[in-house]
Amino acid sequence: MTKPDYGVDAPTVLRNLFLFGSACLFAAGLIHGPIHIGNVILYLHGMFLWTGVALVLEGFLYLLYVKVGKMHHRDYILRFHAWRGDEQVLDVGCGRGLLLIGSAKRLGAGGHATGIDIWSTVDMGGNAMAATQKNIELEAVSDRCSLISGGAQEMPFTDASFDVIVSNLCLHNIYDKATRQQALAEIVRVLKPGGQALISDYKLTSEYARYLREAGFEVVKKRGNVWATFPPLAVVLARKPVS
Ligand SMILES: C[S@@+](CC[C@H](N)C(=O)[O-])C[C@H]1O[C@@H](n2cnc3c(N)ncnc32)[C@H](O)[C@@H]1O
Repeated sequence: MTKPDYGVDAPTVLRNLFLFGSACLFAAGLIHGPIHIGNVILYLHGMFLWTGVALVLEGFLYLLYVKVGKMHHRDYILRFHAWRGDEQVLDVGCGRGLLLIGSAKRLGAGGHATGIDIWSTVDMGGNAMAATQKNIELEAVSDRCSLISGGAQEMPFTDASFDVIVSNLCLHNIYDKATRQQALAEIVRVLKPGGQALISDYKLTSEYARYLREAGFEVVKKRGNVWATFPPLAVVLARKPVS
């Protein structure tokens, strides 16, 4: 590997979009004209054709996000923080290091970026600490990055350790609401007073915003670029109160 590889998010979703989309287009090619079952007339050709077209199109949009859009989305998220260079940054569910490395590149003397992940290969193709470490080396930020194995809902950091917490497409993977809220409670706990959390996801962002608002954070929600992200992503920008 000579170039960084930020992986394919949820690879089975991408595979299924193309698989079921192609199957629908194949069925549309086989079925011509209406099918009569008793008094019922079924127009299956159009149904299979348009379902197939929609699924394959979604597959291409997803692929576009994975290969190009996610780099734009990373820069979009990271622009919401005014970087000084000496921040302690945490990427929750860092995967292959998209936001972790992006943050590290904005750091200078005294700055450090930590990535925490459970390395699920269902949520990210080829996910492994070694693969992310390789990206860190290829991007020449080894002196500013470290990786830790662990769940967002139980983070091994002391209170108020980080100036900035970033996260993209991680928290929705915690299906149980109570556990997801435990992860948000951990974000609240390990962020320094006055620190900023930038949490991006394709769903449940209103839940994150509500939780953080109730924890006393100043919260703003921004839509991601609809041309760069599929499914469309939103970002919750949340500032922890100073006292
Ligand atoms: C879709 S990937 C996104 C990775 C990366 N943030 C990005 O944008 O490229 C979701 C990541 O969240 C991680 N993840 C899922 N559940 C987690 C949990 N409970 N704690 C920490 N990481 C988790 C997965 O292992 C995976 O790396």
